[in-house]
Amino acid sequence: MKQTSSDGGDLGGGTPREVADKPTKGLADVVAASTALSDIDGKAGRLFYRGYDIHDLAGRTTFEETAHLLQRGSLPSRARLADYGAELARGRTLGTLVERDIPEIAERQAPMEALRTLVSLAGADDPDKDSNAPEANLRKAARLTAQQPILVARYHAARTGATLPEIDPELSIAGNFLLQITGRRPERRAAEIFDTCLVLHADHTMNASTFAARVCAATLSDMHSAIVAAIGTLKGPLHGGANEQVMRTLEGLDPRGVAQAVRDRLAAGEKIMGFGHRVYKTEDPRATHLRRMSEELAEASGDDTYYRMSREMEEVVLAEKHLYPNVDFYAATVYHYLGIPTDLFTPVFSVSRMSGWTAHVIEQHADNRLIRPDSEYIGERDQKWAPIGER
Ligand code: ACO
Repeated sequence: MKQTSSDGGDLGGGTPREVADKPTKGLADVVAASTALSDIDGKAGRLFYRGYDIHDLAGRTTFEETAHLLQRGSLPSRARLADYGAELARGRTLGTLVERDIPEIAERQAPMEALRTLVSLAGADDPDKDSNAPEANLRKAARLTAQQPILVARYHAARTGATLPEIDPELSIAGNFLLQITGRRPERRAAEIFDTCLVLHADHTMNASTFAARVCAATLSDMHSAIVAAIGTLKGPLHGGANEQVMRTLEGLDPRGVAQAVRDRLAAGEKIMGFGHRVYKTEDPRATHLRRMSEELAEASGDDTYYRMSREMEEVVLAEKHLYPNVDFYAATVYHYLGIPTDLFTPVFSVSRMSGWTAHVIEQHADNRLIRPDSEYIGERDQKWAPIGER
């Protein structure tokens, strides 16, 4: 029988705690929560948002519609989308603390650190900050989704000294983000492609950052705290940080020596960023779309070097390790061709995933129980205490 103590402490008297189940390292294959938001079939390589196949949504549904689907439970009608769009527009105000501190933050913090700080600061001015009530959570989810692209753009403008273009009400979140980051009104197709990227990254079951958000929310902490936990978790190179590392790898390789360089790295036991996935055992369905968009943008740019290098890397990693590209691999070149600076790739991920994180917080609060797993103790036992001078 499994014997536990709810506070995780030793049961005393040196009695070893019986733990029936060995932990699964990294919680692989452990079902940690129930969700109606997204579902993955890892063997077939399929992803669904609230029952809709990602292949049906990508390129046909906007990011705003997708965020509505995740946060509010359904694909919106035109009227509902207009209301939601108006709510997003009203929610763009960042608050006094952000306004005051952004110049110094931009000077001293790297992009993902800055976002962690800025979301926390924005929370201070959120009118619903002290409420976890369902209606308050819906409003905060919309505001956080509206603010995230602006925070990234404001941060980038502050560190570069560029003048931030005004939001264009005619453009989508995707279009406005490209406008504010590049300083140019994006071509229609570029905005469509970036919008599809945001749709593809919106939610992904119990990924590390979403799990972190849910653990935080399950203590009945507030949505901003949960999102700060998620941003800190997304930052790591094994998760969202991989997209930036993919671009750095491409930039560091000699285009004529890609295959050999990748083989050498694999032989040295190195991981190649942008490949492998805990859940997918075949191609990540998001990568299928991103590869296509990368090819299209590469052709349009007149220099497809990075795209060709990516294809070569993909072939080698598949042949050598039977690993497929994940969402981060082709996202890197897509963002590069769209003119987004490399160190903003992971922040871009957060712009999209904000819709999923906030939806998960809403879901967690709606049917909550503290998330508190057990652990297997592997340390010393029966230690004899001695006064400090006798150790
Ligand atoms: N390159 C080379 N080898 C790899 C890679 C890779 N990208 N990914 C996994 N492997 C190998 C491991 O070295 C390991 O080999 P071993 O059994 O011989 O030791 C085996 O495949 C299993 O790898 P794990 O790291 O144990 O697999 P896990 O399920 O824990 O990790 C992860 C999944 C973190 C995504 C992993 O594949 C990885 O590190 N990939 C690179 C980072 C990356 O692209 N992260 C983004 C993931 S998608 C996302 O979070 C948005």
